[in-house]
Amino acid sequence: MATKNGGFVALLLLLSFLLSSPLPARCDAPLPVNVWPKPTSMSWAEPHMAVRVSSSFHVVAPSGNAHLLSAARRYAALLLAERYRPLVTPAVNVTAGGAGAGAAGRGAELGYLTLAVSDLHAPLQHGVDESYALEILPAGAAATVTAATAWGAMRGLETFSQLAWWCGRERAVLVAAGVRVEDRPLYPHRGLMLDTGRTYFPVADILRTIDAMAANKMNVFHWHITDSQSFPLELPSEPALAEKGSYGDGMRYTVDDVKLIVDFAMNRGVRVVPEIDTPGHTASWAGAYPELVSCAGEFWLPDASDWPSRLAAEPGAGQLNPLEPKTYQVMSNVINDVTSLFPDGFYHAGGDEVTPGCWNADPSIQRYLARGGTLSRLLEKFVGAAHPLIVSRNRTAVYWEDVLLDQAVNVTASAIPPETTILQTWNNGGNNTRLIVRAGYRAIVSSASFYYLDCGHGDFAGNDSAYDDPRSDYGTSGGSWCGPYKTWQRVYDYDVAGGLTAEEARLVVGGEVAMWTEQVDAAVLDGRVWPRASAMAEALWSGNRDATGRKRYAEATDRLTDWRHRTVGRGVRAEPIQPLWCRNRPGMCNLVRQRRSATGVGDSGGAAEAEDGGGRSTGLGDSGGGAARRRWKTAAAARRASETAAAGPCDGRRRQRWPGGSCSKTTTAPGGRRIGQGQHTPTMAMVNEVVTMRLAAMDAGGTMGV
Ligand SMILES: *[C@@H]1O[C@H](CO)[C@@H](O)[C@H](O)[C@H]1NC(C)=O
Ligand SMILES: *[C@@H]1O[C@H](CO)[C@@H](O)[C@H](O)[C@H]1NC(C)=O
Ligand SMILES: *[C@@H]1O[C@H](CO)[C@@H](O)[C@H](O)[C@H]1NC(C)=O
Ligand SMILES: *[C@@H]1O[C@H](CO)[C@@H](O)[C@H](O)[C@H]1NC(C)=O
Ligand SMILES: *[C@@H]1O[C@H](CO)[C@@H](O)[C@H](O)[C@H]1NC(C)=O
Repeated sequence: MATKNGGFVALLLLLSFLLSSPLPARCDAPLPVNVWPKPTSMSWAEPHMAVRVSSSFHVVAPSGNAHLLSAARRYAALLLAERYRPLVTPAVNVTAGGAGAGAAGRGAELGYLTLAVSDLHAPLQHGVDESYALEILPAGAAATVTAATAWGAMRGLETFSQLAWWCGRERAVLVAAGVRVEDRPLYPHRGLMLDTGRTYFPVADILRTIDAMAANKMNVFHWHITDSQSFPLELPSEPALAEKGSYGDGMRYTVDDVKLIVDFAMNRGVRVVPEIDTPGHTASWAGAYPELVSCAGEFWLPDASDWPSRLAAEPGAGQLNPLEPKTYQVMSNVINDVTSLFPDGFYHAGGDEVTPGCWNADPSIQRYLARGGTLSRLLEKFVGAAHPLIVSRNRTAVYWEDVLLDQAVNVTASAIPPETTILQTWNNGGNNTRLIVRAGYRAIVSSASFYYLDCGHGDFAGNDSAYDDPRSDYGTSGGSWCGPYKTWQRVYDYDVAGGLTAEEARLVVGGEVAMWTEQVDAAVLDGRVWPRASAMAEALWSGNRDATGRKRYAEATDRLTDWRHRTVGRGVRAEPIQPLWCRNRPGMCNLVRQRRSATGVGDSGGAAEAEDGGGRSTGLGDSGGGAARRRWKTAAAARRASETAAAGPCDGRRRQRWPGGSCSKTTTAPGGRRIGQGQHTPTMAMVNEVVTMRLAAMDAGGTMGV
């Protein structure tokens, strides 16, 4: 069923033309349905209609790509099982039949969605075409996702899933009809880094995280697997590394675990980039190979008053010794095993925070230095040997920026040719991004000032005299080295290519939020990551500005509240960003009242929408002078009026001031579980149950199922 024809190419050409021309301001007006990240272009014919989704709904996918078939099954199941109940119900009319049509004599229903993919076998790799177009015909007559690749089709399926919601009154899933979406990412690399070296995370938590990434159209899971604290990865050629270096039984990833994670991610269009951090951050290797690790087991900060003499950046000292021949034998085994386990084209070799004090403390290195060697040349010896091993496995090597930019220990560019190297920046904001691209390297941006999700939680070190002084401000950032906490707004606001020329910006391949886990485990992972990672996901997918070039985070607040609500319903315990009170009173929680603007573009869109759609609360602007409250009342009155409209607007809850109340019927969810529909936010018990069910189903067949 794959289509490979001129029409498709013409569509893509038209698409790229449309996308390159400025969008009319109207496109920024909010719609009563929410797709996150916001698509590049989306329209919904007015008056807004929705169609019931058939209880036998399925996705018609071309055969031949197992990952796409798995995604098709999963989304079909999700569509029927999710029962997302919006905080603000979209004001729509249901096609043909409406409220009067009984369960038996229902009118139009959407029975299936068709996928058309022109290159079904394009591999999932950096830069693969993720564009798609989605069309749901006005009366819900048909729904189609057209994409160049299976991975683009998956993005389209996700968008489709977010256009659906559960209508209590209709007792049906509805999906918006008359919708056109044309969409593609700004940046090819939209990642999340998770550190499983400081803290072990069970496989289920990793899967849940990857699932949430795909929902946000993020496509790179950067797995920082090992660190000084533990080496949790079982490698066939080097079994002792995990045996002696992990936290213990049950805290190791087996070869089968890795296969499961990689396959699970592929089914969602997410690449898994493994990182084995070397030569620093390797104290955990000393369990198996004490002779390879300098300063292993020593106290990290021998003289607290002399920071430069530290043996490591944080507790857990140990660095591979490049002078020891066996280092290269082990490295070669590790690189071969890891590149066999992980099919992705990138291999992350770490390279950050090589600490002079550690190597300086090693007697063999002391002799090398005495003969005229330098620490930079020592690092270059190591990188110069490992880099060709990585390249020989047909991989692009990714390093943290330190390998080039560290002021004390760094390599020359000849050891890391730009053609086979990408550098990931984390220090000095945009300044280091500029240094990297000016040196000719592609850059992945993970600025600690914007994208580090661990910041702002104090420090984990004990016996810190700063805490003895009640007047101490703990270094202005609460004792966190990269404090304060990076709020979703700060994440959203960041321009990864800010300040670069157009030519320099081309070398920025994207960004990653980084979840370092000294103070994070599975109990708090979701809330620490989401919805802040969603903020980056949108900024890298469709940008953080509206068509006029203005930052759109104010407008994004309502949408992110909605998206977080859906995220929680899908079993991910994302943090709330504002009280429900705000979402129910559009504009009232803003810091600045919205002005009525000539173009109809404002923080929350065209003010004119206040009157026209009862319940479209994102459109409720304020023309000043306390009008917001009047408008709220007006809109509420409009909603009450529309309840009685003969055409049967779908809303089981409009009589309620608060969402939830009048939908408190108990219905039987697929699978026979009775779930109280009245709770607009699932309880933790429900979330746990749903997550457990979902993951069990995923394990069994890679489908969502219930
Ligand atoms: C629903 O249909 C009625 C009757 O045609 C119309 O008055 C109303 O505006 C429609 N509502 C929406 C949200 O389109
Ligand atoms: C090397 O990697 C590239 C990109 O990941 C891929 O297209 C190519 O087929 C690979 N070559 C071999 C020999 O595996
Ligand atoms: C790299 O290290 C050397 C010392 O080996 C130092 O002189 C140089 O300034 C460093 N480079 C950078 C970009 O800091
Ligand atoms: C970037 O460089 C500028 C100019 O040298 C400097 O003023 C600024 O503080 C630097 N920013 C960061 C985050 O280091
Ligand atoms: C705390 O640090 C002080 C030095 O500041 C040291 O004398 C003391 O032994 C330390 N206490 C503990 C419990 O490690």
